[in-house]
Amino acid sequence: MDLLGGLIQVPGFQKLWRRVPVGSVENKVRLGIYRYPHYAWAVYSAARQAKNLGLEAISVIEFGVAGGRGLVALEHAAREISPRFGVRIEVWGFDAEKGLPKPIDFRDLPHVWEQGDYQMDVAKLKARLSTAKLVLGDVSQTVIPFLEAGGFPPIGFVSFDLDYYSSTVAALQIFEGANATRLPRVCCYFDDMIWPEDACHNEFAGEFLAIREFNEQHDSKKLCKLNNLRWMMPYADAWQEEIYYLHDFSHPLYTKKLTPPEQLPL
Ligand SMILES: C[S@@+](CC[C@H](N)C(=O)[O-])C[C@H]1O[C@@H](n2cnc3c(N)ncnc32)[C@H](O)[C@@H]1O
Repeated sequence: MDLLGGLIQVPGFQKLWRRVPVGSVENKVRLGIYRYPHYAWAVYSAARQAKNLGLEAISVIEFGVAGGRGLVALEHAAREISPRFGVRIEVWGFDAEKGLPKPIDFRDLPHVWEQGDYQMDVAKLKARLSTAKLVLGDVSQTVIPFLEAGGFPPIGFVSFDLDYYSSTVAALQIFEGANATRLPRVCCYFDDMIWPEDACHNEFAGEFLAIREFNEQHDSKKLCKLNNLRWMMPYADAWQEEIYYLHDFSHPLYTKKLTPPEQLPL
């Protein structure tokens, strides 16, 4: 472990660094210094993949914006990471504006969430955003028109934070566009797999069910957990259990080599 990796184990060090966020983008991403460190890690990974594939720009998306803390953090991460790779990053936020819709049944976990939770203040949020764009309306009505309108760079990262099974199913339509609408591997973060404890998340409801059904319905596209991420990071955090990748096996760039070979000295 290097010096910074060691320091991050010291209690309070990460918190202190967050208050004075100096240092390289790499170190801040790797050591979780950004607000919403999972967003920064995912945007960094997506931009690096795009750079290695020779692409000039990517889109990053948050499904479920609510007050906007996540979208503001996503925009901030994109702004800092973009120049590191010379990849332009467009930021999009999708939300119904009026909070959660009516749950369809037990699969939407109505024992923890109900209609109207997490309302947006659109004017207040817009005043805090500089380049991020909002797509307002129920995702069952907005995702397909968004794909059909086009004009956005390939999708490199998607955060799913819609709480419900039914909303996540609708949002996953974002992967129904042509190959060129996304990177061959799209980093995905699923926020509703761990908390709240009372949700008792399981594969028959919520995001777990939406992912399982997506995989059953698609032969050449699969959503797979990024295994062992914790062991690639210098610190442990719950979000590392919620990172998945959309693997688009039929994407023309899927098999293009990304990583330069690393040969150890004899
Ligand atoms: C937990 S909040 C998102 C929190 C936000 N990501 C953050 O970190 O601050 C969930 C959001 O999902 C939105 N949502 C849920 N189902 C939706 C649907 N079918 N269409 C659009 N938005 C939906 C709700 O309006 C709500 O704002």
